[in-house]
Amino acid sequence: MSKVDVLLGLQWGDEGKGKVVDVLTPNYDVVARFQGGPNAGHTLEFNGIKHVLHIIPSGVFHPDKKNVIGNGVLIDPVIFEREIEGLWKKEVDATKNLFISKKAHLILPTHRLLDAANEQAKGNEKIGSTLKGIGPAYTDKIARTGLRVGDILEFDFRERFELQKFQHIRIAEMLDFDIDSFRIENMSLQEYEDRWFASLDTLRHFKLINSEYFLNECLANGLNVLAEGAQGSMLDIDFGSYPFVTSSTTVTAGVCSGLGVAPSKIDKVFGITKAYCTRVGSGPFPTELFDNDGDILRNRGNEFGSTTGRPRRCGWIDIPALKYACMLNGVTDLLVTKIDVLNDFETIKMCNKYIIGGKETEEIPFEFNSVEIKPVLNEYPGWQCELQGTPSFDQLPKNALSYLAEIEKAVHTPVKAVSISPDRKDVLFR
Ligand code: IMP
Repeated sequence: MSKVDVLLGLQWGDEGKGKVVDVLTPNYDVVARFQGGPNAGHTLEFNGIKHVLHIIPSGVFHPDKKNVIGNGVLIDPVIFEREIEGLWKKEVDATKNLFISKKAHLILPTHRLLDAANEQAKGNEKIGSTLKGIGPAYTDKIARTGLRVGDILEFDFRERFELQKFQHIRIAEMLDFDIDSFRIENMSLQEYEDRWFASLDTLRHFKLINSEYFLNECLANGLNVLAEGAQGSMLDIDFGSYPFVTSSTTVTAGVCSGLGVAPSKIDKVFGITKAYCTRVGSGPFPTELFDNDGDILRNRGNEFGSTTGRPRRCGWIDIPALKYACMLNGVTDLLVTKIDVLNDFETIKMCNKYIIGGKETEEIPFEFNSVEIKPVLNEYPGWQCELQGTPSFDQLPKNALSYLAEIEKAVHTPVKAVSISPDRKDVLFR
């Protein structure tokens, strides 16, 4: 009997999970996504070509691996079809090695309408949603009114769709939302709906399965499974900076409910953190920089959303948040990405504590959104040289090794790897 290893983000998403999972994939037989949906954008770069995946597991580029979209994931059939077509263009045929849970919920066109209507209704309190319909689709799942992938095979699917659509339109009308002017990627709601139904044919061509049985059988047969998280721990529905969060369980616990594997089957937890911090959308960000240092991080790190293109907010690494995420997830191995983005800095800063109401604390407060948080910043000398081409972890510049050792010491978790450029070959394992 083998076990499930988990790979997930410890910050506000965009930690570079797609790349790390691609590097780790050779060690696994199966890669499975357990939560989130097309709000995610996992970027992989190899042979000089950039690939962005939204809901398809990153193992898809390895023809001998099985890839599973678990029950905890949300699927928009139009975006799914586009992703499949994009892979075709790169001569990757996902029909053979991609398995989809019948229990995964569908994002309806009117979920996207509701996402926009809800955001508009919030005015200045906007969450900064990716507007992919995530919140409304998970709302329907929890309200027990959602439609699932397996339902597309049922004779009354259209009828159930119409019922949901009717309810959604009524809510949007109540919110005074201008439905006639609403566009999804330049399409009217009706045009998107037509496209949505057409794209169900693509979905039907895939292996639609009870993925909980499939995965447990894989484990019983000794196959190694990697669970690939999306977003980040600080966007978790329970533990993130609520309400500025996504609507799923992004921490390790989500693997059990999003794939149907028992907690005792979880082994290693790879936690990914950038060597600094970023966030897209609204919500607290204690170490955010509004000066030239922030611009350097954004430009050098190419910190623009892979799903929405929005510029990301940038700041120094936040140890209280990282410690919190390590605790929630039971991280066994810390993997630090994008350390090369710090190459030019003479001094690098790290937030080890917060000051809230005149008192020092290392904890994330309940009132994370409403209190003023002053980060206590420690300074470390930079290395001021290129890292690309460094042959091994131990041969990193002394100051880079000291910076990593400080992170390790602060969060009581060993750093097992560091990524020094966007290319897949530039991950140094210890
Ligand atoms: P939603 O999940 O699209 O509703 O967005 C809720 C919040 O999570 C917003 O602040 C988004 O910017 C953020 N978010 C959602 N998905 C991602 C992601 O994959 N990376 C980073 N932030 C994300």
